[in-house]
Amino acid sequence: MKIAIIGSGYVGLTTGACFAEVGHDVLCVDSDQAKVKSLRGGSVPFYEPGLEAMISRNAALGRLRFGESVAEAVESCLALFIAVPTPPHADGSVDLHYVEKVAREIAGSLREYRVIVDKSTVPVRTGEKVAQTIERYSKQKAEFDVVSNPEFLREGSAIADLMKPDRIVIGASSERATEIMKEVYGPFRTLMLITDLNSAELIKHASNSFLALKISYINMIAQICEASKADVLLVAEGMGLDRRIGRSFLQAGVGWGGSCFPKDVSAFIRIAEELGCDFRLLKEAASINEQQREHFLKKIREEIWLLRDKTIGLLGLAFKNNTDDTRQSVAMSLAESFLKEGAVVRAFDPKAMAKAEQALPQLQLCSRGEDVAQGADCVVVASEWEEFRDLDWLAMKKRMVSPLVFDGRNLLDREKMTAWGFSYRGVGR
Ligand code: UDX
Repeated sequence: MKIAIIGSGYVGLTTGACFAEVGHDVLCVDSDQAKVKSLRGGSVPFYEPGLEAMISRNAALGRLRFGESVAEAVESCLALFIAVPTPPHADGSVDLHYVEKVAREIAGSLREYRVIVDKSTVPVRTGEKVAQTIERYSKQKAEFDVVSNPEFLREGSAIADLMKPDRIVIGASSERATEIMKEVYGPFRTLMLITDLNSAELIKHASNSFLALKISYINMIAQICEASKADVLLVAEGMGLDRRIGRSFLQAGVGWGGSCFPKDVSAFIRIAEELGCDFRLLKEAASINEQQREHFLKKIREEIWLLRDKTIGLLGLAFKNNTDDTRQSVAMSLAESFLKEGAVVRAFDPKAMAKAEQALPQLQLCSRGEDVAQGADCVVVASEWEEFRDLDWLAMKKRMVSPLVFDGRNLLDREKMTAWGFSYRGVGR
């Protein structure tokens, strides 16, 4: 099928590449000329395992093209996916001006039946507004349907999440649109949940907020474990063996970040408010997330006292592993606190150093993980990169002022680290 993706950011590009991979004819459109030029040149503006190869493979096969014109997309493609950013306003509500703009652009070129698919994360009832906008601005009054098709991909495993999703949610108001969406996703051979528009939109915010809530829950349990000398890893294991709870997303740590959870949680609190519901539970999940970072900082201060003139070795700058994304990264906010309190921060991240340097030029970036230990009063593990486990910790110990490690992701083997003579401090254990 001829499919257009409008907005070639994280979700748009990965979705476009996977649609081409399963055989669709895909046009990825973006208003940023420089980005379109570099995509045509084969370079992707962010790191995602396997994406660059998938894009160049399908571009070479002629199944994936890049353009700037929404009009061309509307003229040539049956399904038009809107994947533009929906950033937060200062009050946490969702800024929908990119979505609204694209809706008007589509209306301006609509000549025959098209399915317009909301892929961006939008508040409930946005699809209705997109339909009203197209209705109002469409001169030709051509037929169309608006569909909600939320995305659930995780950064760092986006291709796997898209090629083998747990489910595909299709919120549509017509049989015709539903059939077209089934054709789009047919090759993925996955369960399709067909709902109305509003329910599909809510599934996205409800799912992301629930995952954030689950993490805040285990982080609260971690604080209780610390106060009661229990071990959160074992508690999570015991909880997770109950299939009604499930082990995933029960990894205690210094808190959740990234371009999705913080934005979606504050948006959902605002959406609920506008609908007359006080989502106290979610507000609490957000405040536990803040607390968790403060609690971790407090533990560090309690051990090394003043941070001023101390050297802190920081492992991890991205908001999690397998990505170069530092947006709303807890690791970056820890680094910022250390710097503000006058510490020297020697940092390493496998992928995110270039982006981290832009945001925090005072960081002393190291080319190898081991080098963060040079003259360090302690080493802090802030992002869950597996490779940190395999660093030469014994060599690092020799270079540190004192062998003190704060593992903000419970990534390292506590028994091994202790046997090697480190003072090991995890989260909730
Ligand atoms: C998330 C959702 O998982 C995905 O479905 C949605 O489409 C987009 O938002 P992403 O932001 O890429 O994906 O990251 P995710 O893997 O969910 O992690 C989010 C944050 O939670 C990270 O900071 C991570 O370190 C943290 N996390 C995750 C935990 O602290 N504990 C866990 O058990 C899992």
